[in-house]
Amino acid sequence: MDTFAHGDSAWFTHDRFGMFIHWGLYALPARGEWLRHFDEKPEDAYLTYFDHFNPDMFDPKEWAKSARMAGMKYVVITAKHHDGFCLWDSKHTDFKVTKTKFGRDVLREIIDAFRSEGLRIGIYYSLIDWHHEDFIIDRHVGPYRNGDLDKLNQGRDMKRYAQYMRDQVIELLTEFGKVDILWFDFSYPKTDGSGKGKDDWEAEKLVELIRSLQPGVLLDNRLDLPEASDIKTPEQYTPDNPLVDENGNVSLWEGCQTFSGSWGYNRDEGNWKTPQMCIEMLVNHVSRGGNLLMNVGPTARGFLDDRTQAGLTAYADWMKFNARAVYGCGMAPKEFCEPKDCRYTWNPETKCLYLHLFTYPFKHIHLPDLAGKINYAQLLADGSEITIRSSENEVHTNLNSGTPDNAITLELPVKLPSHCTVVPVIELFLK
Ligand code: GLC
Repeated sequence: MDTFAHGDSAWFTHDRFGMFIHWGLYALPARGEWLRHFDEKPEDAYLTYFDHFNPDMFDPKEWAKSARMAGMKYVVITAKHHDGFCLWDSKHTDFKVTKTKFGRDVLREIIDAFRSEGLRIGIYYSLIDWHHEDFIIDRHVGPYRNGDLDKLNQGRDMKRYAQYMRDQVIELLTEFGKVDILWFDFSYPKTDGSGKGKDDWEAEKLVELIRSLQPGVLLDNRLDLPEASDIKTPEQYTPDNPLVDENGNVSLWEGCQTFSGSWGYNRDEGNWKTPQMCIEMLVNHVSRGGNLLMNVGPTARGFLDDRTQAGLTAYADWMKFNARAVYGCGMAPKEFCEPKDCRYTWNPETKCLYLHLFTYPFKHIHLPDLAGKINYAQLLADGSEITIRSSENEVHTNLNSGTPDNAITLELPVKLPSHCTVVPVIELFLK
């Protein structure tokens, strides 16, 4: 089942579910992490948030516990986002958390807390930097994109910035123990040369350095160096089909998703996904051979707000009973054709096929092509037997429920136990 990767990937395809954390100065204006770009906010104005950063309710142990309860097995945390603010005590900048009045190395505390809860560690590092004095300003991203670029870029030097990134990556890969994922964000090469890509980041040199420090780390695909990347990262959408490489082999992929649209805390955003949508999203990813990296944006005071908690609880409630249909599972073999409004996940080791019912069909459901292939079936949430009928052993004629050739019919309870009404799962033991 393991797909090629430069780093260690067996854990990644087993664990399937992680937490993304976007946290930084942008939690204060509370309009998402791109606000400095949208507002074209100059340096001085943005530094107000640096002066006021003081998350007195910061308790990473609580975050880590919520993640573990939700069934998440790894975390990816924004060590530095596009605003350039660093969540650790980097020697190479003063624009860092330990220089705010809060003064604590929050990255270290977060990593320690998540490790204690048994989660693996991923670090997000922004290639884009709206603060660094050497980052060449372009017309695509950042607060000064509409300014006089020639003037603004006098004295700036991308080579020095690339060196700064390497220096910081050395810190991140040598001072925080084993890092399982390094998540760079993002390249935007343009045909007219006005964007940024691998040459600007000196990506090859960077990757060489990374591999020499932590050969097992998995790299995302946003460095503009496809041959070095391990994980494809669709964002805010779920691919209909597994993602494949140029030879048609299934790639490692991880969809990153939000509860409400923004990554950084957004106080006024209204469209939060329902529990049903959240669970369907997870199942959609796993059933197409991918992982889900579900984002949270902690508040400026350092806690996960009640809407975020509710989303995580939806996962916790479902994963408590259905984790077996996620861990170690992936796409089902092609011969198993999914019935309408259903998804399959498949555990190749236990030979269990999991039927996820997105729309509950009530009394029964026909499963095409499975005649003679299933030993036993049960409702995963309580282990209660689900009776199997096939055309050969059909005893009574109910006009609406005749089992099609080659199919089996599962007799379902018309009323589900109250703890499993959101995406119930049937566990099918194959012969
Ligand atoms: C985008 C955004 C960014 C977010 C990321 C997550 O590239 O720039 O704000 O961190 O996606 O995938």
